[in-house]
Amino acid sequence: MEINTSAINWQEMINNAWERRKPLWQDSNVDCFRVFHGYEEGSRGTVVEKFNDAAVIDYKRDIRDELPELAQALLSVFPFKNIVARGHQSLGLTLKERFIILHGTDTSAICNENDLRFMVKLDTPHNPGLYLDARDSRDWLIKNSANRRILNLFAFTGSLGLSSAFGKAAEVIHLDRSKELLPRIQENYKINQVNFETRNFLRGDIYKHLPRAIKAGKRFDGIILDPPPKVYQSRYAQHKTNGQDFSALIKYCTQLLNPGGWILGMLHRFDCSWDDFEEQVIEASGHALLPQHRLTSGIDFPESLPDKKLRVSIFVEKNDPMKKDGT
Ligand SMILES: C[S@@+](CC[C@H](N)C(=O)[O-])C[C@H]1O[C@@H](n2cnc3c(N)ncnc32)[C@H](O)[C@@H]1O
Repeated sequence: MEINTSAINWQEMINNAWERRKPLWQDSNVDCFRVFHGYEEGSRGTVVEKFNDAAVIDYKRDIRDELPELAQALLSVFPFKNIVARGHQSLGLTLKERFIILHGTDTSAICNENDLRFMVKLDTPHNPGLYLDARDSRDWLIKNSANRRILNLFAFTGSLGLSSAFGKAAEVIHLDRSKELLPRIQENYKINQVNFETRNFLRGDIYKHLPRAIKAGKRFDGIILDPPPKVYQSRYAQHKTNGQDFSALIKYCTQLLNPGGWILGMLHRFDCSWDDFEEQVIEASGHALLPQHRLTSGIDFPESLPDKKLRVSIFVEKNDPMKKDGT
């Protein structure tokens, strides 16, 4: 549903979107969700996300003139303490022009999702620190990590690995190339009172670390594989990286997986169907991995085209002991 720009009525659109999310705002265990998904709900390129009492507006179409009206509409459905807006880099605005505080003064917030708390930063140009479409994946990880050694690849702020640690994983290793992420991961563990040592974070390029880990005989019982939609070419990669580069990454991960281990793979590309993704992983693993379970984003990410949703598959190593007892 795309609405003519001049006819946009933010109040009406936010009221409708808020009503659709009733199961979420009525759930006392969750205070963070996508409030408005403009691609399907009336204004292409605009999304609004709620992190406890903070709202973050992201826009790809220049709606700076409409932001006060949008902020008022948001305040009419929920008593937000802070509302910020961030323009996409494609608008050609300076960093200063891109970030606008519409309400409140805080630059961070702590939000709650089921049993976990997450720290988000409202003043970063990219994701504030928690991908809300992965809510069900975090829930799955809490329930399926007990006593396992887990490797969290492309860790970002560590929310997926933290879910495993909270689910009583024996150990979680987070890997990301950005060193700025270590304090953010540490903070997320701290606010959940889950133990974290600096050895739980490996900083560096995945194409450098994975071959080394294989050589050193490291093995894991669960691997979280969430590459960005476009993995940039790495000087450590022997091949030309392609899209999310699952073919190459799965080859490494299969060698790092113990019998009975699982890989949770997240597909973000719209140009690939869910079936094709799973087929690609089966092939790349030499038929050692089989898809066992599928997860996707929640009702706060409405999509009329199924391939536009986040698609998550859990692949299990063929000798999975879980299968024998029917779990
Ligand atoms: C989309 S985020 C992953 C989100 C994360 N799984 C979560 O749910 O919070 C992508 C992350 O991959 C990291 N990254 C990208 N290319 C990398 C590479 N070649 N080696 C290691 N980390 C990389 C980035 O620094 C970024 O933190």
